[in-house]
Amino acid sequence: MESTSKNNPIGIFDSGIGGTSIWKEVHTLLPQEDTIYLSDSINAPYGQKTKEEILQLSIKNTEFLLNKNSKIIVVACNTATTNAIKYLRANYNVPFIGIEPAIKPASLQTKTNTVGILATKGTLNSELFEKTSSKINDDITIIEQVGQGLVELIENGKIHSSEMENLLHKYLQPMIDQKIDCLVLGCTHYPYLTPLIQKIVGHHIKIIDSGEAVARQTKNILSKHQLLRNDNHKSHCSFYSNKDITVLTGILNDSTNISIEKLDF
Ligand code: DGL
Repeated sequence: MESTSKNNPIGIFDSGIGGTSIWKEVHTLLPQEDTIYLSDSINAPYGQKTKEEILQLSIKNTEFLLNKNSKIIVVACNTATTNAIKYLRANYNVPFIGIEPAIKPASLQTKTNTVGILATKGTLNSELFEKTSSKINDDITIIEQVGQGLVELIENGKIHSSEMENLLHKYLQPMIDQKIDCLVLGCTHYPYLTPLIQKIVGHHIKIIDSGEAVARQTKNILSKHQLLRNDNHKSHCSFYSNKDITVLTGILNDSTNISIEKLDF
């Protein structure tokens, strides 16, 4: 392990700003922990890239976070988790927390036996997703939809735009017609769309994401490795992006004790 000190930060990366939805959950549960977040926005979206490209970018992001002495790495990206976490776990000596679409919890909650999932092409086509969905009870129908274009709009600060609304209507209406009652958000960018999605699908459809579960798992694994901080440290959270930081700054505007830096990375 690069360093085993409890005082070292939690490293978090995503293809862009979406993983900040996971950072928020981690920071809420573990406010005493320092965090380092890397947004590889210049390479977003990962969802359309090949497995090899996603792997190489995930390695680069991991090494950046290890150079900053991260004691654990949260892969706050479904696409990177489903394509690269196996390799990362086998090749680096720190614990990794991944995120996968919450289809299992959704399959346990559905009453119509029909669950929708909105995710990137890279996630839906991955072997890990295939393996996870093959374990779901055969009575449950899973309707998969690639959220083509959504990550780009979020990265460009167009969460509340008519383009976004039109795309979401196009992706969600077929699922509504097929009577889903649970919708899984299988990309860490999408929780920023929850209010808009809820408006489109109505309140009888439950929106499920994996953010809180990832934060709980991070806490459990830190504790298991005796890396959980138990002092009253006033934490600092550093954010790095290799693209213009305006949108990132906007979504973090209610956070305190943070720094945001643009990098050539
Ligand atoms: N936040 C990433 C995920 O969870 C976005 C993927 C992308 O860059 O396409 O999958």
